[in-house]
Amino acid sequence: MADRILTGIKPTGQLTLGNYIGVLKRLPQMMDRGECIFFIADLHALTLPIDPQVLRQNTIDLASFYLAAGLDPERVTLFLQSSVSEHAELNAIMQNYLYMGELSRMTQFKDKVSKMNESAIGLGLFAYPVLMACDIVLYDAAIIPVGEDQVQHVEITRDLVNRFNNRYGKILKMPNYELRKVGARIMSLSDPTVKMSKSDPKGDIFLKDDMKTVRKKIMSAVTDLGCEVKYDPENKPGISNLLTIYAALKDISIEDAEKEFVGKRYGEFKTVVADTVVAELEPFQKRYQEIVETKAYEKVLRDGAVKAKAMAKPTLERVQEAVGLLKI
Ligand code: TYM
Repeated sequence: MADRILTGIKPTGQLTLGNYIGVLKRLPQMMDRGECIFFIADLHALTLPIDPQVLRQNTIDLASFYLAAGLDPERVTLFLQSSVSEHAELNAIMQNYLYMGELSRMTQFKDKVSKMNESAIGLGLFAYPVLMACDIVLYDAAIIPVGEDQVQHVEITRDLVNRFNNRYGKILKMPNYELRKVGARIMSLSDPTVKMSKSDPKGDIFLKDDMKTVRKKIMSAVTDLGCEVKYDPENKPGISNLLTIYAALKDISIEDAEKEFVGKRYGEFKTVVADTVVAELEPFQKRYQEIVETKAYEKVLRDGAVKAKAMAKPTLERVQEAVGLLKI
């Protein structure tokens, strides 16, 4: 059987250039490497408060972004997490095999709750990695392309697989994460010491930004002292981030990117980076618009859910049997 390659994206906030570079842009190449299973993690979107109308719109956007990135619906399974009830059913079992201690050490959880009122932290936010582990093991996925911030969640999935298999035999498949060599962690343009996330309008390039705004954000990106365009994340985080964006979009190494800017001033360098981002996002947005207008995502998601269910059901049944749930 070909390796299964699986990833998901949460429809919260607006998707950024970080999501695009870290994951979306890589997905079409995956179609030649194995059986592709990509989904919209809409249940995960409920782990923080979100307006229902916003969630619906984000979901449509995300489905359209996946397709606009160049996925062929005939060759990938694309679906909504909430359309395949096996995710939630497996979650009800697996929540007993990950422990509170390890869940409370998750960096993403700690980051999120540090900004929240403790009495209003939902159980779902705490248990987030359990559902994510279920997303992965449900499809016997081997390769999980993600950005750097999701590595810890894939690692805890590996812990779960070990724990479960030690107890019940070889029931679950062991997944591996796969990071991009260049661009696994795109940083904010306004503060290049923090990750570009979905929540900072100045530091993030949103995939729906108009091209004038994109240029403006790049031209006003925070840079560093000195005038050399050099990759040095510690002393030159701003320039290093822009070099990473450039190299990732051109699919070249950081060293090759650096060579192109020897002797160039920051202003010239930023203009080239802005041109490159615009050249990537402009056609992408056109494809996105067409997909939204024709609602091409509807049939894709509907068919995808049927295909996904057919893959997920046997795994769920295998697990149910292993733990001793009686099938009558
Ligand atoms: P999410 O929606 O936060 O992000 C989607 C993907 O984008 C990557 N990413 C980045 N990559 C590079 N630079 C950045 N600044 C950047 N910001 C985000 C993320 O690492 C991610 O790969 N928990 C997941 C969704 C999920 C999932 C799964 C992923 C649910 N189930 C199963 C893989 C497998 C999340 O919230 O991603």
